[in-house]
Amino acid sequence: MTGPALTLGFETSCDETSVSVVRNGREVLSSVVSSQIALHEKYGGVVPEIAARRHIECVGDLTKEALFSAGCGLQDIDAVAATNGPGLAGALLVGLSFAKALAYSLDVPLAGVNHIEAHVCANYLNGGLEPPFLCLVASGGHTSLISVKNYDEYETVGTTRDDAAGEAFDKAARTLGLPYPGGPAIDEASKGGDDFAVKFPRARFNEGSELDFSFSGLKTAVLQYVVGAPEGAVNVSDVAASFQRSVVDALVINAMKACEKTGTSIVALAGGVASNGALRRVMGRECERRGYSFNAPPPEYCTDNAAMVACRGYYALLSEPGGSGYGVNIFSTGKK
Ligand code: KG4
Ligand code: ZN
Repeated sequence: MTGPALTLGFETSCDETSVSVVRNGREVLSSVVSSQIALHEKYGGVVPEIAARRHIECVGDLTKEALFSAGCGLQDIDAVAATNGPGLAGALLVGLSFAKALAYSLDVPLAGVNHIEAHVCANYLNGGLEPPFLCLVASGGHTSLISVKNYDEYETVGTTRDDAAGEAFDKAARTLGLPYPGGPAIDEASKGGDDFAVKFPRARFNEGSELDFSFSGLKTAVLQYVVGAPEGAVNVSDVAASFQRSVVDALVINAMKACEKTGTSIVALAGGVASNGALRRVMGRECERRGYSFNAPPPEYCTDNAAMVACRGYYALLSEPGGSGYGVNIFSTGKK
């Protein structure tokens, strides 16, 4: 069975506007991303209203750019895919409405795509990974261990009880006076720092919930450490490295437990936090030690992008060639 040869993907769930053309679900012909970091930086986080308005300004030109860099035109597009949740309502509406109108005018199928499933699909881009496998999706809004059974079946086996891992990075960075977004800033600041200089907590849950995460206690511990330290005594590199190690340990330990529980020996990473150097290193090492295989997308496909959305849409259209229909809603959790 073959799906649409060329899928045009849209991602506008948060603060990145992205458009991409993907051939046969996996070969990325173009992926253009316009980041809004500079607009939100001064607020220390994403302002939903500003995000939605910026998507409106960008989406048309980015579509032209994505088609141009892919060397094709609208007439070559066989299907359209757009994120329809979870995400910021106003931001989602821009990409989804644009995609709907485009699919309608081209008379091609439209796939409404779940953002988290799209992150998982980043592992298929320009590569050969196939399900089943265990995927850790760690981003600014989500931290989940997902048992990927096939291209359409995703079972969440562990999730965060409070903050997402990326959110914890952003908040800890703020406490340390590092710029937004905090993940890349902590990744950088931790270089040369001692992972074990400060003893930060690692949350654990009882049997039955042992695959879940909690990062809010860690966030508070960083704040208490910084506030309680004598002036000038905080070594930012050491605190960044120790905090990062605490997050990474929790993610790796639970991912290994999830492999045992689900009986898989293939581990994949996804989401913005998956571009973290320490997480990639420690998870890779642990997989190697156990004889597991390990896959991590290149950093540009870990953070939000439309290529992963086009890929998820391609596989959805393989099993449902008519697509989601033009009435596809936002907040849909996607095809399960
Ligand atoms: O997947 P993503 O681009 O957007 C969401 O779906 O949330 O993830 C953004 C999150 C932010 O919290 C950011 O601080 C974090 O990913 N992040 C990182 C790194 N790069 C981005 N966290 C740790 N280390 C990084 N290198
Ligand atoms: Zn994301």
